[in-house]
Amino acid sequence: MYPRVIIDAKKYAFNVSYITNLAHKQNISVMGVSKVFCADPILVSVLEDMNVDYIADSKLENLMHMKTRKPKVYLRIPALSEASLVVKYTDISLNSELEVIKKLDEIAGKMKKRHKIILMIDLGDLREGIYYQAFNLNIVKEILDLKNIDFFGIGTNLTCYGSVIPSKETYDKLESIKNDIEKTFKLSLDIISGGNSSSIPMLMEDKLPTYINNLRIGESFILGRETAYQNRIDHLYEDVIVLEAEILEIKDKPSYPEGELGFDAFGDKQTYKDIGIIKRAILSIGKQDVKHDDLLPPKDVEIIGSSSDHLIVHLKSDHYKIGDVITFKLKYGGILSLMTSKYVEKIYV
Ligand SMILES: Cc1ncc(COP(=O)(O)O)c(C=O)c1O
Repeated sequence: MYPRVIIDAKKYAFNVSYITNLAHKQNISVMGVSKVFCADPILVSVLEDMNVDYIADSKLENLMHMKTRKPKVYLRIPALSEASLVVKYTDISLNSELEVIKKLDEIAGKMKKRHKIILMIDLGDLREGIYYQAFNLNIVKEILDLKNIDFFGIGTNLTCYGSVIPSKETYDKLESIKNDIEKTFKLSLDIISGGNSSSIPMLMEDKLPTYINNLRIGESFILGRETAYQNRIDHLYEDVIVLEAEILEIKDKPSYPEGELGFDAFGDKQTYKDIGIIKRAILSIGKQDVKHDDLLPPKDVEIIGSSSDHLIVHLKSDHYKIGDVITFKLKYGGILSLMTSKYVEKIYV
């Protein structure tokens, strides 16, 4: 059945162990992030068998169903309303709201459990965390006073909302907060979680500040690329997951629509290029499953658009016929949505 994604667990295992070994050589522990593939059990079992130190996900539901003996980390800042599930199903969570941390403490007390928290500091990327300029040691004091919470350390997230690339200058802001906390409370933080796949270039050049001892990695494992500059990482596989879609129709037709033009099926105004008659094919995948910009076609195929269930391409070779299957490499967003779509079959090699 098509469309389907082909998942190569061996390639994934190779990518995971390559990067994790690199990190371990620099005394950096690794959280393997499973959300891009919806915590697919086969790929989670690879993380389980490989040398990653923790398994992390931003969807509580994924963590609830995940079978692993490694510590489970909840990456999205917990909602007040889900505190019980966070304590029950995860070992560590990333946090920035004292009110929520107090709730986690209360629930952990009732469940007779301990829960570790990593306090997130926003260094300017402007997604989650306490803005570094507004950081106040009082929150640490309050956390340390809680009976059932272990203050595991601090962390930051970069190159997500604000596209901020990790650098020494940016990391210096985190170091100064770490030093303040450790000096004031006479303790040594267990974990300083320095970021995600955008920290890989600094890791590879041995330029990560030595106090950073943890990274949370999703994209580099699955796509073999770093996300600061979007470069491929030598030796790694970029095709752990690919898409296969079947050709339903091939017709020679104009490239420019005929008649008065309004809106497309999604209510958007489109622009069309008139390049005369072209060989157009329709494939069995659409916007309901994936944004066509997230698909990387073979050289002789150009994507020209899509609707909910149909992908329209310009075939630049003559060998294609009805029933042929075209394989697409994928961008990060493509993997995310295809793995989420129940209409796309998952096949393992
Ligand atoms: C807080 C946090 N850390 C790390 C990651 C992993 O990021 P990446 O896939 O770029 O490695 C994510 C996203 O999945 C995240 O939300």
